[in-house]
Amino acid sequence: MIKQAIIPLAGLGTRLLPLTSVFAKELLPINGKPGIEYILDECINAGIKEVIFIISKKKLMIKNYFYNDKFYKDIIKKKKDQRIIKEYKKILKYKKMIKFVFQEKPLGTGDAVLKTKKFIKDKYFLMLLPDDLIMKSNCSKSMISIHKKYNSSVMASMKVNKKDVSRWGIYNIKKNIDKNNFIIKNVVEKPSIKSAPSKNAVIGRYILPKTIFKKLSKLKPGSGKEIHITDAIQSLIDENYRFIGHNFNGKYLDCGTMKGYINSTLEIAKI
Ligand code: G1P
Repeated sequence: MIKQAIIPLAGLGTRLLPLTSVFAKELLPINGKPGIEYILDECINAGIKEVIFIISKKKLMIKNYFYNDKFYKDIIKKKKDQRIIKEYKKILKYKKMIKFVFQEKPLGTGDAVLKTKKFIKDKYFLMLLPDDLIMKSNCSKSMISIHKKYNSSVMASMKVNKKDVSRWGIYNIKKNIDKNNFIIKNVVEKPSIKSAPSKNAVIGRYILPKTIFKKLSKLKPGSGKEIHITDAIQSLIDENYRFIGHNFNGKYLDCGTMKGYINSTLEIAKI
């Protein structure tokens, strides 16, 4: 069973400036609800029991959002507003399952994952990147069932336009399992259009093996001087670890760019 999830949240959110100059992008409301709550709801519905948030001092606002008990209690004491009581209960439910670890320097997703090493208990864990919202169908849940069936690592994926390949991790297929699941041959981080092995992009949901920590601790920074999770995955594939690319069913929304963020609100309002 996959019971733990990790969520890297220490990124600076420069693609969403000026909104992120004083505000954590993951708390920005999308149709009246902070982006991070959509991600937490996906985890809860997929059976996750503990979520590890990787934050930095600059993102303490995220911790405060879940640890504002006195504020809520004082207001609820003064006026017994049912809506506020309900919202506070929801926050308490989230808070119970969240642990915080710190990544002080934004050295990439791989480095963020490494910070969770001593908290991961089981052989596999889930990682969700909060820029990627997947609506209408629980991507984590379907990845967990693929993981159970094939006892291997899984990454969410979708086909993208050739002109956009340099925005994503891109993988090549070794073998088709069925219409939506593929054994991955190799994966590269943000290739140029010329060097991209395909148009199969990795989207921000991963079921990773605990062994990835060993690889991450040995990795040297790659492009942009960051430690990329993609490079650690490739070195596991080189050692014959099986990674499955899973084309998910839901609707993908990119909340990490201004255009995508605005569009997410419009799309979610329609659901
Ligand atoms: C990260 C990964 C990339 C993946 C993407 C999905 O990139 O490094 O391989 O395709 O998430 O959103 P980032 O969005 O952090 O630039």
